[in-house]
Order: sequence, then C-alpha cells, then structure tokens
Amino acid sequence: MSKNGEREVVLSSKDVVAGYLPGVDILTGCNFDLYKGELVGIIGPNGAGKSTLVKSMFGLVEVRSGVVELMGEAITNLPAHQLVEKGVGFVPQTENVFPSLTVSENLEMGAYQLPKQQVEKRIQAITDLFPRLGERIRQRAGLLSGGERQMLAMGRALMMEPKVLLLDEPSAGLSPALQVEVFENVTSINKTGVSIVMVEQNATRCLKISDRGYVLDQGKNAYDGTGKDLLNDENVIKLYLGTLAQS
Ligand SMILES: Nc1ncnc2c1ncn2[C@@H]1O[C@H](COP(=O)(O)OP(=O)(O)OP(=O)(O)O)[C@@H](O)[C@H]1O
Ligand SMILES: [Mg+2]
Repeated sequence: MSKNGEREVVLSSKDVVAGYLPGVDILTGCNFDLYKGELVGIIGPNGAGKSTLVKSMFGLVEVRSGVVELMGEAITNLPAHQLVEKGVGFVPQTENVFPSLTVSENLEMGAYQLPKQQVEKRIQAITDLFPRLGERIRQRAGLLSGGERQMLAMGRALMMEPKVLLLDEPSAGLSPALQVEVFENVTSINKTGVSIVMVEQNATRCLKISDRGYVLDQGKNAYDGTGKDLLNDENVIKLYLGTLAQS
C-alpha cells in the first residue's frame, strides 16, 4: 500500500526481458510495480538479476521485450540522461562517487544541467538532510568513510530532485554499524517523499524497512508481498533468508 492511501504507480516493469549479450536473456519476464511514496526492496541470490532489473529501469541494459513505465509513460530503453530529466535517480552498486573530487564537486556533478543558483540551493537541501556531508564539503570523496560515501552517492542522485530513486546495494561492504546508518539515510530520503527501489544483499534488514519487497530468482520475480509478510514467509525464509543472520 502506498503511504497516502492512493495506489498511484510511479514506476513499473511489465514482462521485461533484458540482457547484455546477444541471445542471452538475463531478465526473463520481470514484473514490478512501485507505488507513490513507497520504499520497495528487491532481494534474491547473487546473479538473480537484481542489478539488471534496476539497470533496465535506467536505460543501462537493453530491454528486448516488455515495457518500463514512469507515471504511465513508456520509458523503455530511453537513455539515462533523459530519465534523469524525467525524475529518475540511480545510485549504482559500485564506483558511485568520484574519489578525487570534493564532496561539493561530486554533488555539483549530479546537477550540471541546473543553473548555478539552483545548484547551491540543492546542495543546501542535501546538506540539511545529511549534515555530515556539509561538514566535509571541501574534503575529497576518496577520504570519506564507506557510509559517508554512500551518503554522498545518494546525495548526488538527489541533486536533480528525483521522484524515484533506484539504489543498488547501498549497504554493500559496510560494517554492521554503517549499514544501520545507510538504512536510516534511505528511510530519511523516503520520508521526504521520494519513492525508492532498493536492491539489497542484507535481505532481512532491507525487508524490515521496506513497505513491500520482491524476491528475484533466475531473472524473474519469484515472490512479492509486504516486507513483513516476506520476512515471515516459509518459502522465502527457507530459500533466501535462512542462511542469513537475522541482523
Ligand atoms: N555487463 C554484463 N555483461 C554480460 N553479462 C552480465 C553483465 N552484467 C551482469 N551480467 C550477468 O547477468 C546475470 C545477472 O547479473 P546481476 O548483476 O543482475 O545479478 P545480481 O542479482 O545483481 O547479483 P549480485 O547479488 O551478485 O549483485 C549474471 O549472470 C551476470 O553474469
Ligand atoms: Mg547486483
């Protein structure tokens, strides 16, 4: 359910088949909906196609059949820069900041299309949301902690005021304490009204903060439901959560 009681779909995939190499489909008919205001988690084993699914919504992998829609408009295979203009933000799984640039320069890179005054306003809004970035505004991104880097990567994606934010494993490689921080940050962003799709390897934590979740397996959604239902679903526990620490 969306938080405001409406059921307005902001982003959806319908029967999406997508892949990188000719003749090899990675997504084999994926169906996905994100409702306005929602935080939706995507979990599943390594290689299931989680990153491919979010990339297929950001023009980074060829969609061979099916449709991706943003607020009812087909956006299938549009290039990333057009999707940014339409209100989609994406934080990739790796290499999501420029280490040799400062925090401020990284944020500016997220909004090079905007007039300078607007850029300053957006930096202000983002440092209000993440004060730690404000404290380190002239520091090179390469010197930030892992959690701060993720904060910066999300901040950069927020520069263009996206309606939808796609996050690919924001907690990857972080200590448990920093993972908690990242999940708190994701929740804070969601509370500002941004609808969020979050891929996560930390399935339990992800489902705990998600309104709904999808379990992907072999390029298809195998299960979906509220975060709570999936956490208690016997099949999901046996297949995907059982071996993970209930952290
Ligand atoms: N650029 C690429 N070129 C060719 N094959 C790719 C490419 N990226 C991913 N694949 C293949 O697509 C499949 C799904 O990969 P994907 O990265 O979507 O999985 P994932 O669910 O995100 O896994 P992980 O949990 O390890 O991040 C894998 O078999 C992978 O080898
Ligand atoms: Mg991945």
